Amino acid sequence: MVRRSGRTGPAEAMWQASRLDYAAMTPLRDDGRTIHASGRPDRGQEAGHGLDPQTVRAEFLALDQTVHGHPLVYLDNAATALKPRCVIEAVTRMYARDCANVHRGVHMLSQRATDAYEQARESVGSFINAESAAEVVFVRGTTEAINLVAQAWAIEHIGPGDQILITGLEHHANIVPWQMVCKQVGAELVAAPVDDTGAVPLAEIQARISKRTRLVAIAHVSNVLGTVLPVRAIADLAHASGALVLVDGAQAVPHMAVDVRALGCDFYTFSGHKLYGPTGIGVLWARRDILASMSLYQGGGGMIQSVTLDRTLYRDEPYRFEAGTPHIAGAVGLRAAIEYVGTIGFEAISAHERDLLAYATARLGEVAGLRLIGTAGDKTGVLSFTIESVHPHDIGTVVDTRGVAIRTGHHCAQPLMERFAVPAMARASLALYNTRSDIDALIDALLVVEEMFG
Ligand code: ALA
Repeated sequence: MVRRSGRTGPAEAMWQASRLDYAAMTPLRDDGRTIHASGRPDRGQEAGHGLDPQTVRAEFLALDQTVHGHPLVYLDNAATALKPRCVIEAVTRMYARDCANVHRGVHMLSQRATDAYEQARESVGSFINAESAAEVVFVRGTTEAINLVAQAWAIEHIGPGDQILITGLEHHANIVPWQMVCKQVGAELVAAPVDDTGAVPLAEIQARISKRTRLVAIAHVSNVLGTVLPVRAIADLAHASGALVLVDGAQAVPHMAVDVRALGCDFYTFSGHKLYGPTGIGVLWARRDILASMSLYQGGGGMIQSVTLDRTLYRDEPYRFEAGTPHIAGAVGLRAAIEYVGTIGFEAISAHERDLLAYATARLGEVAGLRLIGTAGDKTGVLSFTIESVHPHDIGTVVDTRGVAIRTGHHCAQPLMERFAVPAMARASLALYNTRSDIDALIDALLVVEEMFG
């Protein structure tokens, strides 16, 4: 039972009076200059769509710094997003005021911590339109969520000769756990191929679903190409054959409203840190009847009803999947992040990011020898590319000297690198605080690359 705690009183008043001075928390510049991110000249004109980037940017303290003497341009959002003030404050508040363990104490701090942790679960449930917060399991991130399903569901329900279907654009987190399951139970891993645009044609998926398919595990959005997969249509095909569907939603939740019931999937997984929340917290959602049918994952405190030296009785889901002290502050920070994106709204966020994607796609065309990889009709703001005769790590290193942060490498998707016959790619990925001037800065930096290596 969640015990409600009082929200006012001397401790609350003291907290209010001792709020951190965030202005004093930003001595992050490496050159001592005080260039606010919003002070950069804006060459590109922002399209009007209800999201004011400068107001948004003021909430992201990390943007207010210079890197190698240039205002930071953060375009590595698919790796992790920056955190708004309210998330930092929620986490700080948890440790500063409500620091206690959950579900384990009768004292006030423990009640407040438990309350905050369970409110976070409610928030996540509403965010993805779960039927109940009991369908929300807190985990470390998408990777742990998928491994939990692999070891607590798949090895019980998949057997010799069965198949698990994935696609060719999956992140290693949605490949390796299934390879492990296949090895454990004697099943086969099958992958639907990616076309030249970076899409996975539905027909390729349909052609690989049969009575042998027990699970279809797909990304909602590709972390490398931004491709949005047609989850509902895939789920309908899978269910018609009796297979369940797991969705890796890590790259979807920051960019679009996710409704797990409308998607028709059976498992949905995501991480807090790409959604402007803390690292080390993530979510496994599954329908209650499925969670109830799953075997145990990890044993320990918090997931038991009673233990003798001979036997243990376990709690119901979701708690029986949360052994040990959970990442309480992470869950609370995730709730703050969910509330933050809720104040802006996904309509405004996706309109803003679509505008930036179109602008960036057009401007990247100005760079000689640049090959944009990932041009599917339905994609989010991810721009992966190579430049002829330049190693992607050199691209990343040179643009960093101009204050531009992008990711380079195989992006934890080596089969996809192989598909496009490249060892690595450079990737710029967008978030709600990016602007057209960020894109201009990226292009300027890429022109330096062109000059150096061209
Ligand atoms: N999965 C993260 C990325 O795509 C780390 O960069």
